[in-house]
This record gives sequence, C-alpha cells and structure tokens, in this order.
Amino acid sequence: MFTKILGTGGYLPQQVRTNADLERMVDTSDEWIIERTGISERRIASPDETVASMGLIAAKRALEAADTDPGEIDLVICATTTGDKAFPSSAVEIAGNLGINGVPAFDLAAACAGFSYGYCLAHSMIMSGQARKVLIIGSDMMSRACDPKDRTTIILFGDGAGAMVLGASDEPGTLAVHMSADPQFGPLLSLKNPPRGSNGDGCYLYMKGNDVFKHAVVSLAKLVTKTLELGNLTDKDLDFLVPHQANLRIIAATAKKLHLDMSQVIVTLDKQGNTSSASVALALDEGIRSGRIKRGNTLLLESFGGGFTWASALVRY
Ligand code: COA
Repeated sequence: MFTKILGTGGYLPQQVRTNADLERMVDTSDEWIIERTGISERRIASPDETVASMGLIAAKRALEAADTDPGEIDLVICATTTGDKAFPSSAVEIAGNLGINGVPAFDLAAACAGFSYGYCLAHSMIMSGQARKVLIIGSDMMSRACDPKDRTTIILFGDGAGAMVLGASDEPGTLAVHMSADPQFGPLLSLKNPPRGSNGDGCYLYMKGNDVFKHAVVSLAKLVTKTLELGNLTDKDLDFLVPHQANLRIIAATAKKLHLDMSQVIVTLDKQGNTSSASVALALDEGIRSGRIKRGNTLLLESFGGGFTWASALVRY
C-alpha cells in the first residue's frame, strides 16, 4: 500500500499589504524588502476571519479537487500556531463545519514546518491502517503575531490557509517522509502566548533573523539530501522543489544544493510572504492549479520553522 495526494486547495484573504504600505508603517523600503527577501506583497486577514474560517475554505477546495465527500475523511489535522482558542481546536471547528463527525481531529503546532509535519503524520496513519483519507490543513495568521512597529518581522509574514486530501493508494505516491526538531535553537525564533488577563502587548514574534537564516540554509541542505536518500532518488529525479516560503535567498540556496533551475521551484512568497504552516500547501496548490505540476511529476516538499522544527516529503504526484 502507498499514499497519494488526491487534491489540494488554498485560501488567501482579500486585503493586500504591499511594500509601499509597509513603508508607511515602519522605517523600510520596497527595494530593501525585495532585495533581502523577494517579497512584494502579502495578504492580511480581516478582523472577522480566523484560522478555522480560512482553513475551512481551503479544506472545501481540497475536498472538491480530490472529488472526496467530507464523510469519507477519517482524520482531520490542522497545523497552526495562531488559532484563536486553545480548544475546541481549529481542526475540530473545521470538521464540524464540514459535517465530519466521529473521527479524530486535532491541531498540530510545529510553526512553519506544521504542514509538512501533518503530511508525515497523515502518511503514517494511512500506512498503519488507521485511516484511508486524511484532511491536512495548514492555516496561520502571522500578521497578528508580529509587532506592527518591528520592521524586522512585520515585512515577512502574511495570512492564509492551504489544504490537502492524502489518501491510500495502490500506486506511489509518497516516496519518503522525514521530520525532526532541535530544541537548542528555540530562543532564536519564538512566539509566546499572552498571559491570562493581559492585553497581549509584548507577546509578539521574536526572531534573530540573521542566525535563523544561516541555520535554515544549513538544515534544509541536510534535510533535502537525507530525504532523497530515504526515497532512493537523486536530485536528477526531481521535477519540482516545493519549498517553505520564508526568504527567496533561502529557497535559492536549497535549489542550488539540488542543482535545480529556479524554473523548477514553486515560488509564491513574492505575492504571499511567509504564511507559516500554510506556505508549502499554498505553494503546492498554486503549482498544481497553474498547470506547472502535473500527475507523475516528482516533487520535494520541505519546510523549516521555530523550534527549530523541519520536515519534508518526497512525492510522486
Ligand atoms: N528595512 C530596512 N532595513 C532593515 C529591515 C527592514 N525591514 N530589517 C532590518 N533592517 C536592517 C537591520 O537593522 C540591519 O541594519 P544595520 O546593518 O545597520 O544593523 C540591516 O538591515 C541588515 O540586517 P540583517 O538582519 O543582517 O539582514 P538580513 O540580510 O539577514 O535580512 C531577514 C533579514 C529577516 C530578511 C533575514 O535574516 C531572514 O530572512 N531570516 C530568516 C527568516 C526565516 O526564515 N524566518 C522564519 C523561518 S520560518
């Protein structure tokens, strides 16, 4: 038995925040942001939107693409670190709104590696016979987690949700998965929950950007090499890299390590920024819906985030 991607979906809020908008918020410039990150604009959720409401739309689109009835889903995973409540979880809320009942549903916190962690878990649950079809969602509202006065973080992040239905299959499918964490670097990238009774001031995302950048490049190089080894493939077998969308320079370094031309890399961060746990799912959905990624293509999905956490999937689409 194998697992296969049956369908994907995505959702981006309507409001666009451009680099020109950020020039009015903090001491920065369009040129600096594009040169250092590759980002031109990102989407910002409206006050009435939540991680669950964004995830629900992405999930509906993934179910439709997978030609799957919500009643066929055996497990709902929502990767997020910005849900509006601890419980009921965003996954349970999404399941409820889809009419999915009597199956496990839970949120998964692995920061920007969340969706890839969810993929690894969904694959394992199907391979162990505990599920046939799993709905994996990555949804985050990082714009609210960043200090609007901190130019080193507010420029990077956007809001959005991506989703996928992964199903049991007679043909491959998922060729290898890998996930890991290294707690020693936790202080370099953190997001505290506000203490009860506080108004949340001071509980914004903290990032030592330059150090995170260096660790991300090194860890991702090791991750993609290991994942190819696990799947008994080489970089020559890859059609597309579907990377976490944190910084174009990090993505380019990983592509170079894999000897891939940038035309073989799905890049969405120019229009979306870093959407944390939604990023890989949104990039994959964009690659598929634009017609660039086709059935039979070999893909490498990878992500890296706070913790540090990192995860990957080598996939025949
Ligand atoms: N506009 C203008 N100048 C800025 C700025 C901004 N938005 N943000 C920082 N700067 C300044 C700094 O203050 C610094 O000035 P100084 O030299 O006078 O001290 C200078 O630009 C260089 O800062 P530095 O942090 O070294 O820049 P960088 O090239 O590392 O780029 C990031 C900063 C954040 C874009 C980059 O480090 C990065 O992408 N890090 C990893 C992000 C990531 O992967 N995050 C999460 C993983 S999920």
